[in-house]
Amino acid sequence: MKDVNEKSLNREKILSFLDINQNQRVNLEVFNQIDSTNSYLLKKDQEIDVFNVCAAEMQTKGRGRSGKSWESPKNSNIYFSIGTLLNETISDLDGFSILVALDIKKALKKLYEINSQIKWPNDLYLNEKKFGGILIETKIVNKKLLIIVGIGLNVYMEKNDFIDQEWTSLHLENPSIEIDRNILISQIVSEIAKDLNIFLKKGFKVFKKDFEKINILKNKKVFVSNYSEENCIALDTNDDGSLNILVDNVKKRVSSGEVSLKIQK
Ligand code: BTN
Repeated sequence: MKDVNEKSLNREKILSFLDINQNQRVNLEVFNQIDSTNSYLLKKDQEIDVFNVCAAEMQTKGRGRSGKSWESPKNSNIYFSIGTLLNETISDLDGFSILVALDIKKALKKLYEINSQIKWPNDLYLNEKKFGGILIETKIVNKKLLIIVGIGLNVYMEKNDFIDQEWTSLHLENPSIEIDRNILISQIVSEIAKDLNIFLKKGFKVFKKDFEKINILKNKKVFVSNYSEENCIALDTNDDGSLNILVDNVKKRVSSGEVSLKIQK
């Protein structure tokens, strides 16, 4: 595995590369080891109008979607979460995870000319293998909605025997590109901070066109967790970020919280 110790996570460097509005305050903590950056922020007291960001070199209990664990070995990848208090309700946030995936894609393109793919709702792929995922969790705190956006990206990982699906890392697919995890975290936080304001005012519909251009599921045969026996084809997304699917030729709408989905090979 590539030695990235000389480029360890560095709080000052991450802060210095942030490109955000003056009215958006960021409180950043960087840990060598933590159970899970999401779990940490879920427990932390939050102030309104502050973006609490927590990044770690490794997680001992990294969590993925659907109750799975997220492999989080030391110094080789990116694990961070952003927590903020909102006045919105959970239903206003449908589609937000797709936006976060679009922001990660944007950051990789801007910094490194890397063209990643997004599998609805929020898995990040390179050459048909997953290299990143997003776990969004919410909780009500003093009548406000606390949202935690957790992001895991395989950056320099070359070997892992514990992942039960095809996976890759940014380095494995782009060995000649030197990725600075600090700058990448900064860029992703900046993109999300910018787009969150637009999303809260206008919803997912403003971003739908961008997503539809790269929707890799469109017209593909898929396995959908709730419809295991049936013949399913993925279609396009709706203004709220839900996905249309054809189940035995009947059109249905599924939302990201209720299903998981795999492309049929
Ligand atoms: C997925 O299953 O695709 C989502 C993976 C999300 C992993 C990240 S790593 C940082 C944050 N902390 C966690 O425990 N999980 C998320």
